[in-house]
Amino acid sequence: MEFRHLGRSGMLVSEISYGNWITHGSQVEADQATACVHAALDLGITTFDTADVYAGTRAEVVLGDALKGQRREGLEIFTKVYWPTGPGRNDRGLSRKHIAESINGSLRRLQTDYVDLYQAHRYDYETPLEETMQAFADVVHSGKAHYIGVSEWRADEIRAAFELARELKIQLVSNQPQYSALYRVIEAEVVPTSEELGIGQIVWSPLAQGVLTGKYLPGQPPPAGSRATDEKSGAQFISALLRDEVLTAVQQLKPLAEQAGLTMAQLGVAWVLQNPNVSSAIVGATRPEQLQDNVKAAGVKLDAELLKRIDEILDPVVERDPARTQSPAKRP
Ligand SMILES: NC(=O)c1ccc[n+]([C@@H]2O[C@H](COP(=O)([O-])OP(=O)(O)OC[C@H]3O[C@@H](n4cnc5c(N)ncnc54)[C@H](OP(=O)(O)O)[C@@H]3O)[C@@H](O)[C@H]2O)c1
Repeated sequence: MEFRHLGRSGMLVSEISYGNWITHGSQVEADQATACVHAALDLGITTFDTADVYAGTRAEVVLGDALKGQRREGLEIFTKVYWPTGPGRNDRGLSRKHIAESINGSLRRLQTDYVDLYQAHRYDYETPLEETMQAFADVVHSGKAHYIGVSEWRADEIRAAFELARELKIQLVSNQPQYSALYRVIEAEVVPTSEELGIGQIVWSPLAQGVLTGKYLPGQPPPAGSRATDEKSGAQFISALLRDEVLTAVQQLKPLAEQAGLTMAQLGVAWVLQNPNVSSAIVGATRPEQLQDNVKAAGVKLDAELLKRIDEILDPVVERDPARTQSPAKRP
């Protein structure tokens, strides 16, 4: 495993981190989830990403149980707040009330005294940014989180929060956006602003939820057991990516991966890690073998010619519109 600083902070994170959206507490059984977390640790992954909302709060419980007995100082545990965690009108968003309550729930479920990074899962247009950032500052100053991050915030929102964080003497160090060879909407605005401010990207769905592994074939039913067959949750999220023109373009990457001596998954993860503003690629996995495959992308350098060929093949299907970075106008 290789390690990078999280933004301009002093904390190191593993280049490849393990996240448990859709999988833990939902698509995979607890034993399998634990086996994946233990495989991740054995492979040198030290950074784990979850959220209060995943699997209706069960994902944090599964991760906390799986990490029990590990040396806490050897781990970087990230969670998030914003999406609804209960039926109440205040069980969501970034109000002072919900942030103060949700961090306590997360710490209880994760069985830890602090998280290393506490992230705003989206921007909350119903709460003044000053209120949100003061609440985050109190979380940090009470020792419940070391650093603050955001997720899917626009460049101007990141800048405004960064300035408030500095006044409040807390460190806003990261943004968590969707980023893959197929989905590059952060490149035009979010990345340049982040580079200027010293904010690192912890990118989600680097494999486009499995699509970039090449296992979904155009015109064919999805492979058994894959996310596309998970009617409980996964299928709805991956469906937009399962278009024949996307799947056909992805198949054309196979000879390039072979020539580079990489699997398709390794090529996909290595691709996001070529961007120096990326601090970590958060991969998902339903089986330990997937992690064994994906971690080999750490430290891989892709040459300019290969990157150019990838761009030529994917160009017609790549999403680049910076306006795609957005948060709900009203709280969910
Ligand atoms: N901040 C946000 O709003 C946000 C949103 C989404 C995700 N995230 C974070 O990002 C993390 C990763 O997201 P993701 O799960 O969509 O990432 P991903 O790495 O793009 O996709 C992971 C899925 O692809 C399949 N896969 C992975 N490696 C494979 C391999 N080597 N061979 C074949 N299939 C493979 C597995 O699904 P199957 O085996 O089921 O096919 C796996 O669960 C989440 O857990 C979460 O922490 C954050």
